[in-house]
Amino acid sequence: MKNKFYITTPIYYVNASPHIGHSYTTIAADCLARYMRRCLGEKNVWFLTGTDEHGQKIQRAAEAQNLTPQEFTDKMVLQFKDLWSGLNISYNDFIRTTEERHTKAVQRVLDILNKKGQVYSAKYEGWYCTPCETFWTQMQLADQNCPDCKRPVEKISETNYFFKLSQHQDWLIDYINNNPEFIRPASRYEEVMSFLRLNKLTDLCISRPKQRLSWGITLPFSPEHVTYVWFDALINYISAVGDFDREGKYKSEWWNSADVIHLIGKDILRQHAIYWPIILHALEIKLPKIIFAHGWWMTGSDKMSKSKGNVVSPLDMVDRFGIDAYRYFLLRDVPFGLDGNFSQKSLIKRLNGDLANDLGNLVYRTLTMIEKYFSGRVPEAKPTTKDSQEKDIREKIQQLEKKLSATLTIPHFNFSAALENIWEIINMANKYIEDTKPWNLSKENKIEELKGFILVLVDCIECVRETIAPFMPQTAASIKIQLGSRQIKKGKPLFPRVDLEPNT
Ligand code: MSP
Repeated sequence: MKNKFYITTPIYYVNASPHIGHSYTTIAADCLARYMRRCLGEKNVWFLTGTDEHGQKIQRAAEAQNLTPQEFTDKMVLQFKDLWSGLNISYNDFIRTTEERHTKAVQRVLDILNKKGQVYSAKYEGWYCTPCETFWTQMQLADQNCPDCKRPVEKISETNYFFKLSQHQDWLIDYINNNPEFIRPASRYEEVMSFLRLNKLTDLCISRPKQRLSWGITLPFSPEHVTYVWFDALINYISAVGDFDREGKYKSEWWNSADVIHLIGKDILRQHAIYWPIILHALEIKLPKIIFAHGWWMTGSDKMSKSKGNVVSPLDMVDRFGIDAYRYFLLRDVPFGLDGNFSQKSLIKRLNGDLANDLGNLVYRTLTMIEKYFSGRVPEAKPTTKDSQEKDIREKIQQLEKKLSATLTIPHFNFSAALENIWEIINMANKYIEDTKPWNLSKENKIEELKGFILVLVDCIECVRETIAPFMPQTAASIKIQLGSRQIKKGKPLFPRVDLEPNT
C-alpha cells in the first residue's frame, strides 16, 4: 500500500438532476477521502469528482429546453455543485468534460493511439441504442430491443473509427488474474472474468459522425467526427491530474505516485474494468490500484433511476432529516457492494435508534452529568483502580483504529462494518452508565469514583467523535464544540427523534 491516495467518483451525466444513487458514490468517496486524510495527512489525498457533459443525451436534453448544450450544461452543473456542498463533500477538484484541460487531453490520447496504430476506420452497420449510446449486433438484440435497457434501437450505417480493444483481451485476462484485488468486490471480479472468458471482445467504436451528433470532442484526425462519450469520459481520471509531454508520455504526480481508487456503481463496471484498463495499457500508463463497484439503491424491485421515474432527491432528505443522518444511513444500512432498498421508514429507524438513542443520548447524558456533578467542567484525571467494565471499554477504544483500518482500507471499503465497530463503543458506554448508576455514587459522595466514571465516558465520546468524523463531519464538529476543552458547552441533543408518519 502506498501512502498517497487518489480517489475518484464517476463523472455524472448532467442531463437530469442528481438523485440518491449519485449521492451514494460521492458520499462514499468523501468518507474514504476524509478517512485517508486522517490517517495520512491532508496533502496525501486527492479526491476528484465531476460531470460528463457530452453526448446525445445531453444534446437532446438541451434541445428540449431550447438551450445550447453549453448553456444547458453550465446551468445543470450548478445543481451538482450545490448538492455536493449541501452534503459536505470535500472534493479537491471538480472536472467538467467541456473544460479545455479535458478536451485537449482527449484529443491528445486519440492522436497518440492513432499514431501507435491502435485506431482504424471502417464502415459500421448495425443497431444503435441512443439512451445507452451503444452499438449492438443483430444477434445481441433482445426481441429487437436493446439488451441492456430494453428500449427500441435504431438501424445505423456509417463510417466510424474503432479502437483495437480485441487485441488486448488476453493481456487483460492475465492482468486481472495476476491482480485479484483489481476489481472488487469479489463477485464483480468474477463477473468480469467470466465475461472475458465467454465472449470475444469486439473493437470499440470511438466516434460518432457529426451529422448525427455534434455535441462532443472533435477527433483530431477527422473533423467530421466527434469522440464517443464513454471514451471521452473515462479520460477525465487522467486529464484532471496530469498532462502528456511531447513524446506522448503521461506525466502526473498523483496518477503515478498514488494508489488510484475508482469508486463506481455496478452499472458501469464493463467500461471501467475492460475499456479503461485497455486504453491505459495501450497508452503505456499504469493501471489504477482498484476499481470498486458498489450496488444499487432500489425502490421496490427497480433500480432508482430517472428513466424509471422513481428517484428521490437527496436535498429533500437532507432538509427533512439532516445531512449526517442521511450520510450515516447510506453508509450504514447496506454493506458496500450490495444492493439496498431505500425507504424513509428505514432511514427514520436508524435515525431514532442508532443516532438519537445511542449516540445522541450518550453525549447528552454525559454532558448533563458533567453539568450536574462537576459544574460543567470535565474533572481532572486521577488514576483509580479500574473495574472490569472500564477495562473492557478501554481495550475496545485501543483496538478501534486497527479495526477501522482493517475494514476501511483497500480492498474492503466496508463502511457499515466500520460503523458497527464504532457503535460497539457507544453501546458499551451506554451500558456502563446504566450499570454504574452514577446518581447513587453522587448520593454516597463517592466523588473520585464519579470522576473516574465520567472520564471513561469522555474518552469514549472523544474516540467516537474522532472516528465518526469521516462519516458525519458536522456531528463530529458539534460534539467538539459541546465538549469544549474542559469547560463544556452543552447544546441541544445531536439528533432529535423523528415521528414515523403512516405514509413513510
Ligand atoms: N457518465 C457516466 C459515468 C462516466 S465515468 C467515467 C454515468 N453517469 S451517471 O450519471 O449515469 O451516473 C452513474 C453512477 O451514478 C453509477 O455508476 C453510480 O455510481 C451512481 N448511481 C446512479 N444510480 C444509482 C442507483 N440507483 N444506486 C446507486 N448508485 C447509482 O454513468
